[in-house]
Amino acid sequence: MKVLIVYYSRTGNTEKMAQAVAQGVEEEGVEAAVRKAEECDVDELASVEGLILGSPTYYGTMAAPIKKFIDESVKFHGQLVGKVGGAFTSAGGAGSGNETTVMAMVQGLLVHGMIVPGSHRGDHYGPIAVGEPDAAAEERCRKHGVRIAQLIKKLA
Ligand SMILES: Cc1cc2nc3c(=O)[nH]c(=O)nc-3n(C[C@H](O)[C@H](O)[C@H](O)COP(=O)(O)O)c2cc1C
Repeated sequence: MKVLIVYYSRTGNTEKMAQAVAQGVEEEGVEAAVRKAEECDVDELASVEGLILGSPTYYGTMAAPIKKFIDESVKFHGQLVGKVGGAFTSAGGAGSGNETTVMAMVQGLLVHGMIVPGSHRGDHYGPIAVGEPDAAAEERCRKHGVRIAQLIKKLA
């Protein structure tokens, strides 16, 4: 079982979040393939049970390379139904577009018919960091990875 984690990061903050999410996925015995959006071959979607997207918050939404990846994923439209998804973001401030960014990515996953687990505590829609993730934000990312891997195993 494999989860594809696709992220964009210019200054390293979202990248650190991606690594923490991957750690959580792997703790559950699920493979985590971590890819920069600019280098990710969309064909990898053919062999994964989960897709997690990470982007910095840019003008209240995802950065262009992540949107490009989502748009290219149309190649697999209909083939991701029932697979598990998630999203995370790093933003410059709190309440400055981070939740809208996560939700924009989640919308793309939902259009694919994917299942996106929420969280009853903390970051309800997906992990958020203000700037560089601190220990608490990294922990929320790790738990997000755990939650997604557990759901994949439950559905298998
Ligand atoms: C083009 C651009 C647009 C941005 N727009 C926002 C924004 O709308 N809200 C916000 O909180 N931060 C904004 N930021 C700040 C980044 O989201 C923030 O620095 C983030 O931590 C960068 O993540 P990275 O290190 O993964 O590149 C913007 C930064 C850039 C370069």
